[in-house]
Amino acid sequence: MDSLQVSLRILHIVFGTLWAGTTFFNVLFLEPQLRRLGPNISNPVYGALMPVITPAMMLSSVVVLGSGVAMTLVMRWGILDELLTTSWGWAVLIGFIATIGAMVVGFGILAPTGARVARLSKGIQGRAPNPDEARQLGSLGARIETLSRTNFVLILIAVGAMAAARYL
Ligand code: HEM
Repeated sequence: MDSLQVSLRILHIVFGTLWAGTTFFNVLFLEPQLRRLGPNISNPVYGALMPVITPAMMLSSVVVLGSGVAMTLVMRWGILDELLTTSWGWAVLIGFIATIGAMVVGFGILAPTGARVARLSKGIQGRAPNPDEARQLGSLGARIETLSRTNFVLILIAVGAMAAARYL
């Protein structure tokens, strides 16, 4: 294995770990505990975390995608039809599709929904939400939960496919 392949693999795995690890920590530990503590605590915590986490996860996903595609090209240049004719190729393709899905769900839908909650919460700081605001916060919260879980499953599929690829 040459130094380009080793560098791409290190980049890919370091940023993949950061992205997947943050997503898993959020869905498995942070989100359930903050939900239990209620919106007076969870909203300011998410309000402080989101502006830092969202760009870091966007950057990580772009590095993972870029290094993953580069690794695929370096490893199979000239025999790219193996992507469709071998189990290795199918595993990498499934991981690729799951990664694109996670980027669309995470950055295209989840992040803007989180930003809407942050804006709404800012406007009702220091007072109880009126019935309409409470309804909106409730439905946005439920949407965020579903989207976070979808994102979690997609990233889990990508990690599983990647980890299994070379042994298939
Ligand atoms: C959430 C996204 C992803 C994560 C967490 C991830 C993680 C990993 C990990 C941990 C490995 C090392 C597996 C091993 O050495 O056995 C790996 C390998 C690999 N990944 Fe990814 N990956 C992701 C997305 C992608 C994408 C989008 C591509 C682009 C096609 C890609 C292409 C590859 C390739 C070609 C390998 C080498 C497989 C082999 O050694 O046979 N990955 N990935």
